[in-house]
Amino acid sequence: MSVHISAKKGEIAKVVLQPGDPLRAQYIAENFLENAKLVSKTRGIFYYTGTYKGKEITVGASGMGCPSIGIYSYELYTEYKVETIIRIGTCGAYSTDLQLFDILNVENAASESTYAINAWEIEGDLLSHQGNIFETINATANEINVKTKITNIHTSDIFYRKNPNVPAVATKYNCSAVEMEAFALFANAKHLGKNAATILTVSDIIPTQEFISADERETALKPMIELALEAALKSL
Ligand code: HPA
Repeated sequence: MSVHISAKKGEIAKVVLQPGDPLRAQYIAENFLENAKLVSKTRGIFYYTGTYKGKEITVGASGMGCPSIGIYSYELYTEYKVETIIRIGTCGAYSTDLQLFDILNVENAASESTYAINAWEIEGDLLSHQGNIFETINATANEINVKTKITNIHTSDIFYRKNPNVPAVATKYNCSAVEMEAFALFANAKHLGKNAATILTVSDIIPTQEFISADERETALKPMIELALEAALKSL
């Protein structure tokens, strides 16, 4: 047990797939894993461990935002000896260069967040993916023919804001899309010397206000889930 995860030691795999939403974790466990067992449900943040093609994988939620993923990823890395976390999330595109359903493999996360500096004295507003799982995802995407785009993204602490313009940090680093967690995940992995990647499916196009409907989400996320699972296997 850790402060926020009730799984016993040994009940979490070396590699964890981490969506934001606990119900998405449940959906992945029930539809993609074999013999999935619910190992933690503290605060409704579900963690399941099962096997995929014979290897043990855990899928569990991060919740929303840097504070939340900061807690869960830290406890996974430090209390459960997790080596690799692959965040699988959705993002809003800042321009019409991206389309709904596009899959992004995040090279760097830019952020105004104070998480990295305050938690670990890691300076700067840009953090890279950590370890070699990003490269494994790229190689896997080629092998299984899942088209992905390598890009920088903006990790924002804010979903609703007054000013509709793209925030300065996102423009500075040419960020094509916005989400709310990758920067804190990368900060924890950097501090702890662990592997971390973020794969995102474009769920909305901010300038045109197009979005993937709730019904479309399940099927829309399937290629990203398969890519994350296949890459996870290679990391084991
Ligand atoms: N903003 C922040 N996070 C998001 C968005 C967004 O527009 N879409 C999906 N995740």
